Amino acid sequence: MKVARICLLLHVLSTTCPLVNAFDPVTTTVVVGIGATLGRKIYNYFHESCDSKWIAFNATALEADLNRKLFGQHIASRIILKAVNGFMNNDNPKKPLVLSLHGWTGTGKNFISKLIANNIYKEGTKSSFFHLFASTYHFPHSSQYLHYKSQLQQWIKGNVSNCERSMFVFDEMDKMHPGLIDGIKPYLDYYDKLDGVSYRKAIFIFLSNAGSDKIDQTALDFWKAGQNREEIELKDLESLLSLSVFNNHQSGFYRTSLIDKNLVDFFVPLLPLEYQHVVQCTMAEMRARGMQPDQSLADKVAKDLLYFPKSERVFAVTGCKTIESKLDYYL
Ligand SMILES: *[C@@H]1O[C@H](CO)[C@@H](O)[C@H](O)[C@H]1NC(C)=O
Repeated sequence: MKVARICLLLHVLSTTCPLVNAFDPVTTTVVVGIGATLGRKIYNYFHESCDSKWIAFNATALEADLNRKLFGQHIASRIILKAVNGFMNNDNPKKPLVLSLHGWTGTGKNFISKLIANNIYKEGTKSSFFHLFASTYHFPHSSQYLHYKSQLQQWIKGNVSNCERSMFVFDEMDKMHPGLIDGIKPYLDYYDKLDGVSYRKAIFIFLSNAGSDKIDQTALDFWKAGQNREEIELKDLESLLSLSVFNNHQSGFYRTSLIDKNLVDFFVPLLPLEYQHVVQCTMAEMRARGMQPDQSLADKVAKDLLYFPKSERVFAVTGCKTIESKLDYYL
């Protein structure tokens, strides 16, 4: 009796009241379906994905960044722009882009990687497609290199499988175990695919101090001869650089065949920075902090740094590296 009454009530409601009507199976499916699609749309809108919404190379912005934010590196600026431009505009590259950046601390190696990432990924270096490895941090124990090697290979494979436009930066390349460098080698080569994965749209950047002494010597020779630093050309450094990297027993590089097999597309030398460049970096930092650039304050910061060689005091030992904390100190 009771059950029959409830049934009757439901029946009456379901035909007269649209609210109850909405709960029939078909409507429910439609409503849930729309909800899921909407949910996915909202998720995709905020969540980084491997498509042109999140990955869009901006050549003009990279050029502007290199001109306005990187100081004293006319050779590096030119190579980076050409190399990255050419690679990103090629829909069918034959191999990944491999850059090897050489110079002392504070000359802009990390900074250049950051500028490249910022102009490829909407999320910049925070992108889940950008990967930075520092030898002494990620691979500290040389006895464990076999473990690191298989882990690193899995990471590279896993990430490139997720997104072919992945970027890998290896800091302190000269401190990396030769076995580890060997482990990366296959991904840099002219393979169509390795185990079904194509690495040809990825970017690999190696940072190191190797060859810096040769770069510095060349810069100093120019300075001593009264020649403008802008007159230094890549050809003045390129052969020196690959030779010294190759012969340097301190660096793991020479034992591997990265250079032998021409897997590195571009050697990018970074020149030691002079007083005027440190001043420029400091002014840029003030601007970045939303301050009014203050020349006399920038001079104070620059004067506070050490310069080499001892007698001439031409180049800043730590380049633009420590200016942030120096600026904090003077503010
Ligand atoms: C991608 O690389 C990161 C390291 O940067 C690693 O933690 C992660 O597991 C990798 N992802 C895949 C799918 O292998």
